[in-house]
Formats: sequence, C-alpha cells, structure tokens
Amino acid sequence: MIVLGIETSCDETAAAVLDGGRKVLGSVVASQDDVHAPYGGVVPELASRRHLEVIVPVIRQALAEAGMTLRDLDGIAVTQGPGLVGSLLVGVQAAKALAWVHGAPLCGVNHLEGHIYAAFLEGNPPDYPFLALVVSGGHTALYLAREPRGYARIGRTRDDAAGEAFDKVAKLLGLGYPGGPAIERIAREGNPAALRLPTAQMTDGAPDFSFSGIKTAVSLHVRRAGALSPAHVADVAASFQATVVKMLVRKTVRAGLSLGVRRVVLTGGVAANTALREALAGECGERGWELFVPSRRLCTDNAAMIAAAGHDRLEAGERAPLTLNAVPDLALA
Ligand code: KG4
Ligand code: ZN
Repeated sequence: MIVLGIETSCDETAAAVLDGGRKVLGSVVASQDDVHAPYGGVVPELASRRHLEVIVPVIRQALAEAGMTLRDLDGIAVTQGPGLVGSLLVGVQAAKALAWVHGAPLCGVNHLEGHIYAAFLEGNPPDYPFLALVVSGGHTALYLAREPRGYARIGRTRDDAAGEAFDKVAKLLGLGYPGGPAIERIAREGNPAALRLPTAQMTDGAPDFSFSGIKTAVSLHVRRAGALSPAHVADVAASFQATVVKMLVRKTVRAGLSLGVRRVVLTGGVAANTALREALAGECGERGWELFVPSRRLCTDNAAMIAAAGHDRLEAGERAPLTLNAVPDLALA
C-alpha cells in the first residue's frame, strides 16, 4: 500500500510517501525556523501562512522523490491533532482535497502516535508492549503501548512541555530559537553540576512531569546574576539540561519498573538530545531493557511517521470522512 503522509501541526511543513507503511520512498520537511527565530518561538498566524505557501510544493517534491504521482496513492494520512489549529487545518484541507479528487482513502492521525511510529521506520522495531516517552516542543507524556493502536497514558506534563522549557531557557540565555539544539551545543562547554535546580516531585505521587519550576529557577538565577559570561551561560545550560534529563529518565524508569515493561521508545523533538539519549540508554542498559530511539531526523517533526501510523490504521480498515476536521487538543489516550 502506497501512502502519502502530510504533517503541518506546528512549524514544519512535511510530506512523505511510504511503501507498506515502513519503507520511506520520499520525505520532505520544510522548516519554518527562519520565520519564527526573530520571535524566539512559534507565531501561530505566521506558521499557518507559511504552511499555505509551501504545502503544495512540499507534497509535489515528496511524490517526485518517490517517483510517484497522486494516482499511485492507495491512501492519504494527515495529522489531525494535537497542534496549532490554523496549522493543522492547512494539512487537513490539503489531504481532504487530494482524497476527494483522487478517490483515495483518507485517515486522520494523532501526531503523538506518529512520533511513536518513528520507532518503526528503522531496522529493528519494538515488540509490544512498550513504554513510549514522547518529548517534544508541544508535548511531554509517557504512554504504555499495549498492542498496535492501543495506548494508555501513564503520565504527562502538568505545565510546560520539555521542549518548550528548552526553548524558553534558551531565550532567557540569549541563545536563539529553536532552543533545544542551541542549549545542547553550549551545554557541552559547561558544568552540569554548577547549578542546583529543582526537580519537580508530584505531591500526589503521580508519574507526571512539571517543567515550570525549573524554568522559573533559571529565570531568577539569570536575573540575579545580571550580565552572564559565556562560561556562566554554558554552566546554566548544562545544569538545566542535566536536570531535565534526570526528571525524564527517572519517571520513565519508575514506570517501567512498576508496570513490568522492559522496552522503551524515546521519541519527539527533544529525543534528538544526546544527553537524554545517553542517560536513558545507560539506565535501560543496566537493567537489560531494550531502548528504541529513532535517528534524529525522525525524532523531530516529519511526515514519514504520520504515513507509517496512517498506513496501519488504513490497513486495519479505518477511514476518515471528508468532514474530517482538525482537533487541536486531540488526545492519544
Ligand atoms: O517534535 P518537534 O519537532 O515538534 C513538536 O511536535 O513540538 O519538537 C520540537 C522541540 C523544540 O522545542 C526543540 O527545541 C526541541 O524539540 N529540540 C531539542 C533538540 N532538538 C530539538 N531539545 C533538546 N535537545 C535537542 N537537541
Ligand atoms: Zn512533534
């Protein structure tokens, strides 16, 4: 089955063509970093406008890479949510128009399920059940994938997403946007033990995350310190990164132990972070657990992961009507 995937939930316009839901024939990601960088974060209105400008060329290019035409498609999968509503609508409308014109089956995909499916696009895919730590700019949650398309949410962030915290702290430190890669780069020069930052503990014992406290702590520190030397900025970045990594890894390991699940998928934009990848690999390795981490270009937003998830849903007989609408707060479980 040849499936076209379309992803426009945030600030990347992406299209991909997959064969059998696993073989990537063509994949194009048009980043909008240049549009949003001056603002230190995604500006929703500008994101929708850029999606509109590039969606058709991006789809064309993905088809050309795959050596396919629209008539070759057996299905179209599109991110339905969660995400920015104006951005989502551009992808959903494009997918619906193509599905209608070409009579192709249509499927709406949850963006977070897409991130999980990134782990199925390379060499050795995970068996079920597994834990999935989805850490991105908009979302931070831990899921138990019990069976194909069957998820339970174990924990989620109570406030900011991990990637959002990276972006905000980078802005505080004057490191530009997107913040994750900038912090990771500067943190290499810094001492991760330089600053003691709070690791949030849920008083109700829930395996939830919280990143607003650490962000506030960094903000207070920066304000008190006044002008920061480059070495000081590196220390703050390294300490922040180490603390976020510690929080993410600790909750994931605890969930694995309490659920008796020995397989972990790490995915989402923040999963591109080397410190996080290495820390989780260390903890899983010690316990003999299997860890699955997609390569970096599949961790950040892309349409191959959407086509993969959509393929499995289409193959299971799922069909979305042409009344399919964007759902900005669509839940996975
Ligand atoms: O999954 P993604 O591309 O988009 C969303 O669905 O949100 O994730 C983007 C987020 C941004 O917040 C970005 O700063 C973060 O992922 N990110 C990183 C790294 N690369 C991207 N965070 C930490 N370290 C990185 N290397
Ligand atoms: Zn994402």
